[in-house]
Parts: sequence; structure tokens; C-alpha cells
Amino acid sequence: MRIVLIGCGVVGQSFARILIRREAELAKNYGFHPRVVAMVDRGGAAVNPKGLDLEKMLSVKVEKGTVAASREYGRLAMSALDVIESVEAEAMVEATPTNIKDGEPGLSHIKTAFKTGKHVVTTNKGPLALALPVLTELADYNKVYLKFSGTVGAGTPVLELAKKCLLGDRIVSIRGILNGTTNYILTEMDEKRITFQQALENAQKLGYAEADPSMDVDGIDAACKLVIMANWIMNKKATLKDVDVQGIRKVTLQALEEAAKRGCTVKLVGSINDNLKVKPTEISRHDPLSVGGVLNAVTFVSEFAGEETIIGRGAGGMETASAILRDLLDIKHNLATTLIA
Ligand code: HSE
Repeated sequence: MRIVLIGCGVVGQSFARILIRREAELAKNYGFHPRVVAMVDRGGAAVNPKGLDLEKMLSVKVEKGTVAASREYGRLAMSALDVIESVEAEAMVEATPTNIKDGEPGLSHIKTAFKTGKHVVTTNKGPLALALPVLTELADYNKVYLKFSGTVGAGTPVLELAKKCLLGDRIVSIRGILNGTTNYILTEMDEKRITFQQALENAQKLGYAEADPSMDVDGIDAACKLVIMANWIMNKKATLKDVDVQGIRKVTLQALEEAAKRGCTVKLVGSINDNLKVKPTEISRHDPLSVGGVLNAVTFVSEFAGEETIIGRGAGGMETASAILRDLLDIKHNLATTLIA
């Protein structure tokens, strides 16, 4: 499978590292031979129709700041859209940063990939939170797959649990801790009695927070994930503007102390019932959602199977990149068993 990789930040680079590490097993266990034929970052592109040497590309990226600085394969002036339009490939991996104002540039990358017959795997929440119903229709129209399991829960298979493991049941409501950064901040405040500001600085040092931390602390990242779940799992035609969002800036140490006296804690909980909400909520310390640190947890309530909770690391480059690989293998499997080609 020929792949164009758009976005070479933490997630894009982690994906390249996983492909290097897993090359032999992917071939042996799954008959999967991924070949990255183009990589794009802010500085331009590197293109080799025969497949780029990923070790070399990662070195160029680290040393020179852009893959376009590759002497043999670099294309300094080439944009992501030029690459998607002109480079032949079966799939595009889109790992550019989330922008919730207009979803760009990810939205155009995805639409252009569809038009040129490429399957899409994305970890970019912006385009999905703004336009998931339209994008799934466009993918169907162009007879390509759109996969995005890394957008919710990073490497933790939250979407798959609901969609595949609970196949045939009907999920009636969802509650979850959907943002690692805010969960880390609230846990630190609760356990170490440090202020919101100190805890945020720690989260930034550890690389958990988004480039713009307001995405995390104001609840927007969690709201994006909620929209993706509402559409994908519960067939609701929701977008970001349908979510009632409140972040954690106003959660005080005093509120956490009061909650602790009642055997509770305060978490940023996203919920889907009749409506979509993200807000700081007092929950029992025995609630399965009462997870610490950067963990995410999601409880699905389904009509027959009852309640299930999935817990796992909800952020991180390698974690998110593992979801990209999972999606690509899924596409490969689907292509082998259906008529879509
Ligand atoms: N900033 C996000 C989080 C990354 O903290 O959960 C994963 O979406």
C-alpha cells in the first residue's frame, strides 16, 4: 500500500517510527507492505514513488527541521495539496494539527484525497468535529474509506469497542473522560494541592497539552471527541456548535477539597444523552470514570449489554500512531474482503 503522510509532527514521526520497527512483522503476520511515497511538513515535501527511506527522512527532519531538505527527494515549494493531487498512492495519512475554526488545512487535504481516490486515515479532530456527516457521505460517494480511530482515546480503541465489539446492540448514552491534559491537571490539583496554573505548566512541559492549551482546558478538545462519537456511534448528525461546553479554568482547590469530603472528585466529563455536554462534574471516587493522570475512560450504556467502561492512555505520539496503523490494517482487510477498490 502506497501512503502519503501529511504532517510530520509528533504523531507523523511516531507513525514513521512504528513502520520502521514493525516492517518485518507487518509483512509476515498481515501481508502488509506499507510504502510511504511522500511526506509533507510545513517546509515542503519529500517524494519518492518507490518509497522513502523512513530512517533517513526522520534524520533529515530532526537535523534540518523539514523533510523538504532531503537532497535526493526534497521538494521545497511543494504543498500538501500538490502532493495529494499529483502523487499516486492508495492512502493518505493526515496528521496535521487540529483547527476548529474552519477545519483547515486538514479538511481540504481530506476532500482532495477523496477526489483522487485515496483512502484516508486521520488523527485530526477539527475536520471531523465540523463536518463528519458530510465527510462520511463524500467518502462513500468516492468509494474510499475514512478512518479516524486515533481521534478519540489516542491508541485506546474507544470507537472500535462501541462500533465493533457492541455490534448489534444499541448504545443509549455515553459518558467519558475524553481529554488527557485536563484529567492530568485535575488529578495533580487534587493529589498535590497545586494550583490550576502550576498543573497546566507541568502538563505543557510533559507535552500532553495541545499547541494551544485552551483547546484542552476550555473543553473544546473533549467536545470534538464527543461530536465524533455522537455521529459515528450514535448516528446523531451533530457538530461542534451542538455541544454545551464548559472547561476547567474555574475548578478551584476548594471545590476539590469539598468533593473529597463526600468521597468524590471533580472530572471534566463529556456526556451524550438527549444532548451533548462537556462540563466539570463531581463523581464518586468509585465511579469507573474516576481515573488518574493522563488516562481517558469512556462508559458506554447499551440497551442489552449494559454498562462497559474502557480505560487507557488518551494522548501521546506513539499511542496515536498505533491507531493509524490499526486503521490502515483495517482498510487493507476491508479491501481484501469487499468490492471497494
Ligand atoms: N491534548 C489531547 C489530550 C491530546 O490531552 O487528550 C489527545 O487528543
